[in-house]
Amino acid sequence: MNILVVGAGGAIGRAVTDAFCQRYSSAVVYAVSRRAYTGAKPKQVVPVQLDTGNEQAIHDWLSACKAEGTAFTHVVCTTGVLHDSNVVPEKRLEDVSASAMQHYFTVNTLVPALWVKLLVNHLVQGPSSLTVLSARVGSISDNQLGGWYGYRTSKAALNMFVKTAAVEYARRAKHTSLICYHPGTVDSALSKPFQRNVKPEKLFTPAYTASQLLQIIEHSNPTESPYFIDWAGKSISW
Ligand SMILES: NC(=O)c1ccc[n+]([C@@H]2O[C@H](COP(=O)([O-])OP(=O)(O)OC[C@H]3O[C@@H](n4cnc5c(N)ncnc54)[C@H](OP(=O)(O)O)[C@@H]3O)[C@@H](O)[C@H]2O)c1
Repeated sequence: MNILVVGAGGAIGRAVTDAFCQRYSSAVVYAVSRRAYTGAKPKQVVPVQLDTGNEQAIHDWLSACKAEGTAFTHVVCTTGVLHDSNVVPEKRLEDVSASAMQHYFTVNTLVPALWVKLLVNHLVQGPSSLTVLSARVGSISDNQLGGWYGYRTSKAALNMFVKTAAVEYARRAKHTSLICYHPGTVDSALSKPFQRNVKPEKLFTPAYTASQLLQIIEHSNPTESPYFIDWAGKSISW
């Protein structure tokens, strides 16, 4: 079995890589990241350093995998940004800027969208899954608080991309479940500045949310795809 984790350098990416290794000891786990891989490296992990947002680079790497006979059973794309040197989540309309919106959409929507696009011909013809890390705040129908314009809208756009792709996957990769996963609030660099009001029991470890995701993947069914689902296995309204 071949498994692919994109964004394997992040907190959830590393934990998902570890969880797959523990769950499927004979699987090969490709850990793709822009950075050199620093997670635990059991023999079954193949670190791949790649510009995860470069369509040509993704295409070339997937083609090389195919030439070696590698097709993927499970894929998880964890790519996402809430704050970095380019962006801070907006509190009010006056904080919104075109450049920040572009950055949010590039990382949160376009990078995973490229992988969903290119992977359609690289999945096994049998029970399989493709998960993107979304967020509950990307739900259009469940938005009471406002704010975080760029993050919310880029995750909502990611959800719509996956929902649209699911129509085509149902024909072209009909054994693959597409999953938009909300991991809960997870202790990572991404959530660090926003953890103050989170109750300790609601701040999950990356390992916990990764193991919840693996259970969801194992119970997924392509006839119910696409899923927008949280760490507890509860559906989220789009
Ligand atoms: N932590 C939470 O509480 C929480 C809650 C809801 C949703 N999420 C979602 O979960 C996912 C993982 O988050 P995390 O908590 O593990 O955060 P993290 O440790 O900061 O990881 C962020 C990930 O995004 C990738 N990334 C960041 N900037 C990028 C860029 N400019 N171009 C390409 N890739 C970039 C990184 O990939 P590399 O390996 O290439 O560096 C890394 O895998 C994100 O999509 C986030 O929105 C997290």
